[in-house]
Amino acid sequence: MKFIIVTGVSRGLGLGLTKALLSSGYKVAGCSRSRSDALNELEMSNDNFKWFPCEVGDATQTQTFVSDACQWAQAPLWGLINNAGIAKEGVLATFPNVDSDELLQINLNGALYMAREALRMMLRQNSGGRIINISSIIGSRGYTGLAAYSASKAGLDGLSRALARENGRRGITVNSVAPGYLDTEMSSTLSDSKRAQIINRTPLGRLGTVNDVAPAIEFLLSDGAAYITGQTLTIDGGITN
Ligand SMILES: NC(=O)c1ccc[n+]([C@@H]2O[C@H](COP(=O)([O-])OP(=O)(O)OC[C@H]3O[C@@H](n4cnc5c(N)ncnc54)[C@H](OP(=O)(O)O)[C@@H]3O)[C@@H](O)[C@H]2O)c1
Repeated sequence: MKFIIVTGVSRGLGLGLTKALLSSGYKVAGCSRSRSDALNELEMSNDNFKWFPCEVGDATQTQTFVSDACQWAQAPLWGLINNAGIAKEGVLATFPNVDSDELLQINLNGALYMAREALRMMLRQNSGGRIINISSIIGSRGYTGLAAYSASKAGLDGLSRALARENGRRGITVNSVAPGYLDTEMSSTLSDSKRAQIINRTPLGRLGTVNDVAPAIEFLLSDGAAYITGQTLTIDGGITN
């Protein structure tokens, strides 16, 4: 049974992905800052899942989380999904430093700290592995009012490319998955008119769902994706065509 760490599992894509991975027979350790009812249910109904509290972006908590998770799993660490993220909106000229600092600390440094700890485990195990960073189309396209978010996601794509080069010889692949607009809590602040505009511009005519993204992540975790590394896979219903 392959063991995967997923960050940001209390809701949205992280929760849906965790359920999909468990259904496919993976063992999963997940973290978030809060513990939702859905997590309680999942933990009670599935021995192959355990939740840990961890503030992504805090290097000490990250080290403890990865170490505790690996000890719980009693299995080599096969994959890390860096999914935890936050979005904050506002034009940069009036966007407070405290907000951009927090966003970059969680979305970019958080993923980097987590990748460092996972790589230490994977390199020691010497049996390959997978790191998948959940980026966004905003990282390559930009978006008015999302400068810090866009920078964090572009940074993640760069992190994937560099780590792919650094670790390829050890059988560890590193890729980004860049969703378009997903129907989760993160996008719930979109106004009705903005939502309608996005749907109108999307060739497939709807927002994405967790079920549109999870299968692609599962593919990147699989043996069939062993020769794919340093890539950013866009899953956006065609909106960036
Ligand atoms: N929704 C979209 O349209 C969209 C599009 C493209 C990419 N994405 C990306 O997909 C990923 C998941 O997004 P989502 O839509 O599922 O968002 P979401 O519903 O807001 O969920 C975000 C998850 O990240 C966790 N999280 C946030 N900050 C954290 C921290 N400091 N430490 C630990 N966990 C933290 C949250 O848990 P707690 O709050 O309990 O900590 C939650 O479980 C994000 O990286 C996002 O940028 C989303």
